[in-house]
Amino acid sequence: MPYFNGRFIERIVVLTGAGISAESGVPTFRDADGLWEKHDPMTIATPEAFQRDPALVYRFYNARRSKLAEVSPNSAHESLARLQREFAGDVFLVTQNVDDLHERGGSGQVCHMHGELLALLCTKCGHGDYTHEDFDASSRCPGCGSTGTLRPDIVWFGEFPYHMDEIEARLGGCELFIAIGTSGQVYPAAGFVRLALARGATTVEINRELSDVTGLFHHQRRGLATVEVAALVEELLAY
Ligand code: APR
Repeated sequence: MPYFNGRFIERIVVLTGAGISAESGVPTFRDADGLWEKHDPMTIATPEAFQRDPALVYRFYNARRSKLAEVSPNSAHESLARLQREFAGDVFLVTQNVDDLHERGGSGQVCHMHGELLALLCTKCGHGDYTHEDFDASSRCPGCGSTGTLRPDIVWFGEFPYHMDEIEARLGGCELFIAIGTSGQVYPAAGFVRLALARGATTVEINRELSDVTGLFHHQRRGLATVEVAALVEELLAY
């Protein structure tokens, strides 16, 4: 069975953030040219912002959704998919990202705790669906036929992330926790390393810079995700 750093590993939890998609050309949030450098998240990524100016919010997410067609998964996404296919134990992938690059990189299991750019949700009937197309207040819900009720199925600031019960159960049962390309500034994801540590897991951070929680990890792999993820996956599959 696989070993990492002299330790038997059967269950792995991987958390990814915007940094894993950066080399695919998807802007991160807090880097120098990041999304939150250009837009105030409080005017775009909150339920109140959507109530106040839905047209602005629809435009922001329609633009990000249409850009997905211009970007491709990178070797870090593909390396994680290979780990999920070939690792002898269990690999649970949870992402803060709302892009579809993990899926397009070959991952069959992806837990989107912050929702998905390609997903829409009807605030009236709860209908969920996927689309690559723009939608706005004039769009009709495929479920109930209403207009003015569709929203991006994205978890905004102040809303509760998806799948937290499963994520916490996975963190409570893993031997290895790997965080890739996340600044560690947004909870609950930034606290996952503590849950893993509480269970006695070995923790590894891959980031090109220090994050807000770097000091909580046993191991830091400082560098680009496309380099460091491939190297770590090779190590984990070497046994
Ligand atoms: N390789 C490795 N790490 C990288 C790379 C790269 N090529 N490029 C950037 N990074 C790292 C940065 O150093 C930073 O630590 O990725 C991280 C990106 O941080 P953020 O932009 O804050 O993105 P993230 O941590 O995913 O944000 C979390 O905040 O606004 C919310 O919902 C949004 O899901 C997002 C959440």
